[in-house]
Amino acid sequence: MVSDGALDRVLKLLASPPVRPEVSRGYLDLLDESDESETHDTVAQRLMRSAGLPRIYEQAWRPVVFGLAKGGPLGPSTEQEYALARAWLNLAATPGATVLDVACGPGNVTRALAEGVTDGGLVVGADASATMLSRAVADTAASAPGTAEVAYVRCDAVNLPFAEAAFDAVCCYGALYLFTDPWAALAGMARVLRPGGRLVVLTTHRPGLPLLGPGLGALSGATGIRMFGARELTEGLAAAGFSSVRRRSYGLMQLAGAIRR
Ligand SMILES: C[S@@+](CC[C@H](N)C(=O)[O-])C[C@H]1O[C@@H](n2cnc3c(N)ncnc32)[C@H](O)[C@@H]1O
Repeated sequence: MVSDGALDRVLKLLASPPVRPEVSRGYLDLLDESDESETHDTVAQRLMRSAGLPRIYEQAWRPVVFGLAKGGPLGPSTEQEYALARAWLNLAATPGATVLDVACGPGNVTRALAEGVTDGGLVVGADASATMLSRAVADTAASAPGTAEVAYVRCDAVNLPFAEAAFDAVCCYGALYLFTDPWAALAGMARVLRPGGRLVVLTTHRPGLPLLGPGLGALSGATGIRMFGARELTEGLAAAGFSSVRRRSYGLMQLAGAIRR
């Protein structure tokens, strides 16, 4: 359950708040149905909009699919991934932080970020999928006194509706590879971060192994999942306005952190 107070706080973060905000489903809805289906029509995106995936995503789909992609026991566990996000975003040293979780899905990462945000803080989960956001709202308990608030917004991650420098920290886990224009999305994340604010991104990794190339290319073409090279990501972050880029790769996934210049 998301409180009206948290949704009011989100409205204040928008570049152009709507005159009549649509919040009847427990999240602020800034899209209409045609926005969702016309702009994101790949196999992977249709799956994200389905009614079934949100039900199994957090408990079954993510641990299995991400686990395999991270190289099984060689990669970080889900809990370790979340702890890395909190640490690389420096949340412990940012009292009452305002944090954006881009492409939040059913809110699993949003809630994990909120655990690291102190009293007075706000974590905003943003996603284009109505089915994912309904699940996020249902699975999010009302925030206890003394903890961060959580709210959700339905919007396009490639065209974020928030005001410049609205956030102290931005997280984008498990989604950059789905976006129509990931570089525009990173530039948008830079725009909504204050100077000195931090970004963390978990996305796909295309290993530099020639034998894997054709298979990964075919998979990418069939599903709409883009595979990022290591330098491609770090150079893209620098071009989008970030410095102090750090990166780790785990099999077919990579984690990058950076600071808004
Ligand atoms: C695999 S889930 C990731 C959920 C969560 N961040 C995690 O790491 O587990 C990917 C999410 O990206 C969302 N998404 C994809 N393209 C988007 C876009 N252009 N704008 C907003 N959300 C998008 C999908 O709706 C889906 O919920």
